[in-house]
Amino acid sequence: MTDSDHKPIIRLRNITKNYGNIRALQNVDLDIYMSQVLAVVGDNGAGKSTLIKVLSGAIKPSQGEIEVAGKVYTGLNPALAISLGISTVYQDLALVDTRDVAANLFLGRELVKFGWWLDKKLMLEKSKQLLRNLNVNIVDPQRMVSQLSGGQRQGIAVARAVNQGGKVIIFDEPTAAMGVNESRQILNLIKDLAEQGYAVIVVSHNLHHVLEISQRICVMKQGRLVANLETAQSSPSEIAHYITGVNNLEDDQEIAQ
Ligand SMILES: Nc1ncnc2c1ncn2[C@@H]1O[C@H](COP(=O)(O)OP(=O)(O)O)[C@@H](O)[C@H]1O
Ligand SMILES: [Mg+2]
Repeated sequence: MTDSDHKPIIRLRNITKNYGNIRALQNVDLDIYMSQVLAVVGDNGAGKSTLIKVLSGAIKPSQGEIEVAGKVYTGLNPALAISLGISTVYQDLALVDTRDVAANLFLGRELVKFGWWLDKKLMLEKSKQLLRNLNVNIVDPQRMVSQLSGGQRQGIAVARAVNQGGKVIIFDEPTAAMGVNESRQILNLIKDLAEQGYAVIVVSHNLHHVLEISQRICVMKQGRLVANLETAQSSPSEIAHYITGVNNLEDDQEIAQ
């Protein structure tokens, strides 16, 4: 390991977000490392999405600091987050169905030649390369997005996040609306991203998935970060204990379903 492996790429310090009287986040401290999957778990309303929105720049915290690559910010905005290498894969994927794969991968950052002419050939080549690097099963980037499966569409959204310069890739409940095969594809893609050196942050309700793909698990409860666990050292019952406050040692199997 080198020094940069030990140094977090992002440090959240004392992050609080209030909505009127509601404290969606309270004094959250969290470090995020490259080459790791960090899972964020917790009950409905625990503050998981709010935490993700602070990171993606969708909301500004009421208090606290976000340090990215050594520079301190009191809040991000979406364009700043992307320019800092923080990319979010939204649940609706935000793809344009009526355009092809390559057009979606380069949406808003099209490659041009002679100053203004769209360089379709280069975008197709780069699309193929990008999809191949991420093991996304799409051979022809000229396919219309509307013709592709849920797993392939998710793959395009991830490839676009990487193509935006994303080094930290964020997912909020990526498998929530997915069947078994599609879930498998996205779980493998998430593991691949971390193996390729990206930092991945995944909100999930599925402890089974979380235990399989993550290196760290942080548990949110009522806006607070109540546990930051090493996945290899934790069990479903321990995680459930932090989520609910109840310890069900004998229910390990059931909880993991
Ligand atoms: N825009 C908002 N306005 C008011 N309250 C909000 C808003 N967004 C979230 N909240 C509240 O903040 C808390 C945390 O919400 P959220 O981060 O969405 O939780 P989770 O994603 O863990 O289910 C909840 O009590 C929720 O009702
Ligand atoms: Mg949520």
